[in-house]
Amino acid sequence: MDLSVRIGSLTLKNPLVAASGCFGYGVEYAEVVDLSTLGAIVSKGLFLEPREGHPSPRIVETPAGMLNAIGLQGIGARRFVDEKLPELRARGATVIVNVCGTTLDEYVEVSRVVSDAEGVAAIELNISCPNIKEGGIQFGCSLNGTFDVVSAVRKATRLPVVPKLTPNVTDVASFAHAAEDAGADAVSLVNTFLAMVIDVESRRPKISNVVGGLSGPAIRPIAVRMVWECRQTVKIPILGMGGIADARDALEFLIAGANAVQIGTANFVDPFIWGKVLDGITDYMERHGVARVADLVGSLDTREEAADLT
Ligand SMILES: Cc1cc2nc3c(=O)[nH]c(=O)nc-3n(C[C@H](O)[C@H](O)[C@H](O)COP(=O)(O)O)c2cc1C
Repeated sequence: MDLSVRIGSLTLKNPLVAASGCFGYGVEYAEVVDLSTLGAIVSKGLFLEPREGHPSPRIVETPAGMLNAIGLQGIGARRFVDEKLPELRARGATVIVNVCGTTLDEYVEVSRVVSDAEGVAAIELNISCPNIKEGGIQFGCSLNGTFDVVSAVRKATRLPVVPKLTPNVTDVASFAHAAEDAGADAVSLVNTFLAMVIDVESRRPKISNVVGGLSGPAIRPIAVRMVWECRQTVKIPILGMGGIADARDALEFLIAGANAVQIGTANFVDPFIWGKVLDGITDYMERHGVARVADLVGSLDTREEAADLT
């Protein structure tokens, strides 16, 4: 059975990727998960310099999900390269770095720093974090901003460039298109949905930033729809995510048109999820006589006559 996935010049051994911000820097999970068995891991978002993020409370549970406004706390790109990358390399992890910036120049600079390091497989450009005031989503909510960041980073690195799109727009496919036009090797989607939760007794927001990003199973049907829309619009690979908690969920994304899937929030619930989802996918492939996971990608059957048969 061929589980491999191509993302530009990069081949992942399977379609399961640990989503940014939900898997630390990877090393924290190394005792629980054999990092070399994952398709890839995506680092927490990194700026050039370390950042403290927002004060707590920064997360709150919601029906079938969670709201977070961490504010991109992180150790910065240089410390990541010096302190985390050597262990990730030694453990055989395929590492994608989630690159952040408050300005276009910072995106370029962070991309250069991680491109110069040994052991980074690709860059995921975070133009979609809803929880910071400058940069990020401001680029990701503008078609020109998306195009400009992607083309600037494209020129600065030989690594595959994978912009991560926000769902907080009316027509996400047009953003995927802008990214493809600017030379992106793939797109990942979705980041979290802007949302808020209020404590009615105190009439206070439940997180310090007032608003935050919603993730988990609650967002999955919307994310699947967005992946499907992007699949109609772009040819480049899609890394799909949003609420995946088991193999069926992952298969939904693949069938909708994702080439690989990322798992975020569900890893907090079950850090052993990876083997279970992979087994579920291979079991499905066996039952359906599918030899290559790539053959599932975008295999959704929307014909009306097919509906009559079921
Ligand atoms: C606590 C937390 C921190 C996150 N941090 C980042 C981040 O640093 N960069 C990023 O691109 N996405 C970040 N995300 C978004 C996830 O990578 C993912 O896009 C989103 O949660 C949807 O997937 P899920 O429902 O499987 O969690 C974060 C999500 C959560 C819950």
